[in-house]
Amino acid sequence: MNRQKKIEYILIACITIIMVWAANTTASSQNYFKIEQFIHPDTCKDCHYEIFEQWENSMHNLAHKDPVYTRISQFLRKGLTNEQEILEAETCVKCHTPVGYVSGFPKKISDDLSKTPSIATLGIQCDYCHSAQKVKQMYNNGLVLNPGSGEDDPGVKYGPFDDSESDFHDTAFSKFHTDSRVCGTCHDVKHVAFGTGLETTYTEWKESPYNSSNPEEKITCQGCHMYQRPGIPATGSSPRPENPGSATDDSKKRPHIFTHNFTGANAFVPGMFKGQDKIEMAVERLQNAAALSMDTSKLEQKKLDIIVTNIGAGHSIPTGVGDLRQVWLEIIIKDRDNKIVFQQGVLDKNLELGNDAVIFRAVFGDENGNEVINLAKARQVIKDTRIKAKQSVVRTIDIFKTPEKGSQLTVRLLYRSISPKILNMIPGEQFKPMPVIEMEKIEIIL
Ligand code: HEC
Ligand code: HEC
Ligand code: HEC
Ligand code: HEC
Ligand code: HEC
Repeated sequence: MNRQKKIEYILIACITIIMVWAANTTASSQNYFKIEQFIHPDTCKDCHYEIFEQWENSMHNLAHKDPVYTRISQFLRKGLTNEQEILEAETCVKCHTPVGYVSGFPKKISDDLSKTPSIATLGIQCDYCHSAQKVKQMYNNGLVLNPGSGEDDPGVKYGPFDDSESDFHDTAFSKFHTDSRVCGTCHDVKHVAFGTGLETTYTEWKESPYNSSNPEEKITCQGCHMYQRPGIPATGSSPRPENPGSATDDSKKRPHIFTHNFTGANAFVPGMFKGQDKIEMAVERLQNAAALSMDTSKLEQKKLDIIVTNIGAGHSIPTGVGDLRQVWLEIIIKDRDNKIVFQQGVLDKNLELGNDAVIFRAVFGDENGNEVINLAKARQVIKDTRIKAKQSVVRTIDIFKTPEKGSQLTVRLLYRSISPKILNMIPGEQFKPMPVIEMEKIEIIL
């Protein structure tokens, strides 16, 4: 073979190797499976009964059915003409219907979602999380799965134990499942075209004191959210005792069984299903998230300082969909005759807040910096007043008149998921107003 031919052969060999490699990586990054490969949560329930009951009607179970999500996503999609905005508005299923997405249906939000295979309508489920092996990117759900082949060949279930055995499925210790990254890849949402951080819970945690290199101080997402059970909110400011028990009725006793309620702050949607217990847990969590205090030394100057501290959340308050969530201060001063002489942050008759209300939230903007409600149009974050983990913020309130001695001063920190103004924009049957949860309250006589 002459030199010229040799070089040609080497070149062809190289190109072939690159093509095979490229084909393989595309296949694995597409990460598509058959829907039959995933095992129904009811099967897991046969043995893992308690864990199933905790997960049932959690926001993970409801992620696809959640009417607030389904109706908002359809609403955002309507009327868009810009390709990049359409691309974003279509991607919701990746996290909200993940089993459907990785098995090819639905691919996008405009698909006929009533045709979603029934197992995929069960949201973020047992076999999805426990087939996850690693992560390829830390945003927009980069989980890489290794599911089995249905009930006859369930494959490996990855989890926190290095000595567990099951007759039904193989088990494997997975350090990844003990790490915040298994949660973080879905709990950081980036606009697919503009890169805007639409949800930044994982990044907020990563940059917080809870992501400490000292193991004594480090608290992962699981360290709070998978210790919670009724009566034990398990936050940064409340005890997080272990939950001794067994993973199945007849497996061995363990010092801690991770709970699967996955409660955050949603005190509305679980009630549309049969998740009353989840609502109570969300309220308990919110009531162990923040501290409130005030400095009345400037009342003579007609000013009141209010201090809010994030003592319980491992991320900002609020987090998640930070443009929708509302956390605000309500301030009421009554004179000695019980007459209101000052108020701010009190809901009006339409349950709306005035422009003067002190509210902690993120605001997204278009290219000109005008506020947008449609996330698909969010090209930038124009404001973020949320309270970071362990941070204190001071807000100075103008009270216009120094209150007389004996007046009553009440300050409350309140939470609701979404304002009626936004809910009422969604076509179709009106939603009931979201409950307002009192996170903290102080009351003094001046
Ligand atoms: C959002 C992902 C997710 C979902 C959904 C989920 N799990 Fe888990 N599960 C985890 C993680 C993460 C751990 C380990 C936590 C750690 O070690 O920090 C775990 C732990 C476990 C364990 C070990 C025992 C324990 O609780 O500590 C079992 C068994 C288990 N899960 C079964 C289930 C079953 C059954 C379902 C469905 C009813 C389910 N999981 C749904 C993420 C999930
Ligand atoms: C026939 C009973 C049975 C069924 C059905 C079952 N499991 Fe298990 N599973 C077990 C037993 C037993 C263990 C071991 C528990 C222990 O060691 O404490 C276990 C352990 C686990 C673990 C921990 C693995 C580890 O090494 O940390 C996970 C995760 C898990 N199961 C997930 C699932 C999921 C998801 C399903 C449904 C697809 C399921 N299991 C169905 C019996 C079952
Ligand atoms: C130190 C305890 C702690 C840690 C660690 C923690 N959280 Fe939270 N989480 C809370 C508390 C308290 C709340 C309720 C207050 C709030 O909404 O911020 C909450 C609320 C939430 C909510 C609902 C937010 C809303 O307002 O709608 C989500 C989602 C959430 N957490 C996810 C996570 C994820 C993902 C991680 C890890 C990256 C994590 N959390 C780490 C304590 C914690
Ligand atoms: C496959 C993507 C995915 C993974 C993985 C995931 N989550 Fe979620 N999570 C979601 C989605 C989507 C929702 C919201 C569903 C809704 O509101 O309709 C949610 C909701 C929640 C909520 C409830 C928020 C509220 O407002 O009440 C908490 C708490 C939470 N997740 C914690 C976790 C923790 C802890 C982990 C890791 C063990 C985790 N998540 C892993 C996608 C995911
Ligand atoms: C990368 C994962 C991911 C993608 C993609 C995603 N979401 Fe979510 N979504 C979440 C998580 C995590 C939460 C929970 C945060 C919280 O409770 O504040 C959530 C919560 C929501 C909620 C709050 C639901 C409620 O009951 O209050 C709405 C509405 C929502 N998402 C709409 C959308 C829409 C519309 C899209 C597509 C344009 C979308 N999401 C795409 C992860 C995702």
